[in-house]
Amino acid sequence: MKVTFCTDLDKSVVVTNCEKRGWVQVGPEDDWNIYWAGTLTCKSLFSVDSGYRMSDAQIINHFPNHYEISRKDLLVKNIKRYRRELEKEGNVIAEKGDSKYLHLDFIPVTFVLPADYNMFVEEYRKSPQSTWIMKPCGRSQGSGIFLINKLSKLKKWSRDTKHIFQPQLAKESYVISRYIDNPLLIGGKKFDMRLYVLVTSFRPLKAYQFKHGFCRFCTVKYDSSVAELDNMYVHLTNVSVQKHGGEYNSIHGGKLSVQNLRLHLESTRGKEVTEKLFDQISWLIIHSLKAVQPVIASDRHCFECYGYDIIIDNKLKPWLIEVNASPSLTSTTANDRILKYKLLDNIFSIIVPPSGFPDTRWNKIPTKEAMKDFELLIDEEIIQNEDPETSEKYGAKYSSMYRWR
Ligand SMILES: Nc1ncnc2c1ncn2[C@@H]1O[C@H](COP(=O)(O)OP(=O)(O)O)[C@@H](O)[C@H]1O
Ligand SMILES: [Mg+2]
Repeated sequence: MKVTFCTDLDKSVVVTNCEKRGWVQVGPEDDWNIYWAGTLTCKSLFSVDSGYRMSDAQIINHFPNHYEISRKDLLVKNIKRYRRELEKEGNVIAEKGDSKYLHLDFIPVTFVLPADYNMFVEEYRKSPQSTWIMKPCGRSQGSGIFLINKLSKLKKWSRDTKHIFQPQLAKESYVISRYIDNPLLIGGKKFDMRLYVLVTSFRPLKAYQFKHGFCRFCTVKYDSSVAELDNMYVHLTNVSVQKHGGEYNSIHGGKLSVQNLRLHLESTRGKEVTEKLFDQISWLIIHSLKAVQPVIASDRHCFECYGYDIIIDNKLKPWLIEVNASPSLTSTTANDRILKYKLLDNIFSIIVPPSGFPDTRWNKIPTKEAMKDFELLIDEEIIQNEDPETSEKYGAKYSSMYRWR
């Protein structure tokens, strides 16, 4: 039996990887086993009117309502709800100190506009000297983002765009988040991390983290002064913004591997704090997924690779900025191309059972060999069975995450 694949993405990295596995490309109307689709294609396939029913031998690279995690406003809403629920049930991980969550304070304080305008103003007044960042909920690649340091600026913006006070005229909603104004700098420049997380099931949660993430740098030195507030080359780390910034190729094509970041931090800050930082990153990824677990349709045909955007501040605390459901597969350098090739190769090796043929009845527990450069973050099925042998086989990362239980 031949495995067939289908894609609507014009990216050679997908086709090359599939062909290398001996899979045969077919069209969307044909009998496909694996579909690497854009989110829109996926949406129409899952829509009721499409009448499409997938068989046990078909899998696709998105969950139907991934926007619960990938839309900026919904991610925040789900995380807020998750914290409230844990708090209500008296769970220790929702402990508070100084009116802040001690373990779940991993997203910058955020409000949705226009809906939460009054709540925002209340928060703003508590510390009127802070900077805030406005981001349109449904856009990406840094588009439509701006910083504000005065309420009057927001009011002016809302008048100009007739936004906040006339929600019925508002074309799109925004999130406004506290700006992390003390980012960790390397060579004086701000950067964020792009990490890849593969989810093969939400209930039970099964998630894997790719070892080869990278850091994306700004091209201009960081400067938090008001004069530079509108300079996006200083504040936004998106490749799509920075590639227009002239000196883009000055540092590793603007990128540094996470492994090298780790070495850099171990030597400049010490091993212990570096380890703590990376543990906190795994922790925030797991809990961001737990936050959407009850609302995402855990369709057994689906898997999804998320691109996590994370900023580290100068106290080495990681902040979750956003989660992308279609992380860019475009490459800027030769290393980048190798990385993305590896990423796809590794995703395919995890999602296909040892038989080599897609099967949704499989328990989705890959062999150690199939894991390659992915590390298990959490598999609730394994935790539930508390099988020490399996736990050892995969490395005990998740068990340390669950020590609070
Ligand atoms: N709260 C924040 N504090 C500091 N920088 C931020 C914050 N939110 C976003 N940024 C910067 O702006 C960039 C774009 O924001 P992001 O939420 O990822 O939107 P987009 O969908 O446009 O990529 C981030 O990669 C980061 O560099
Ligand atoms: Mg982003």
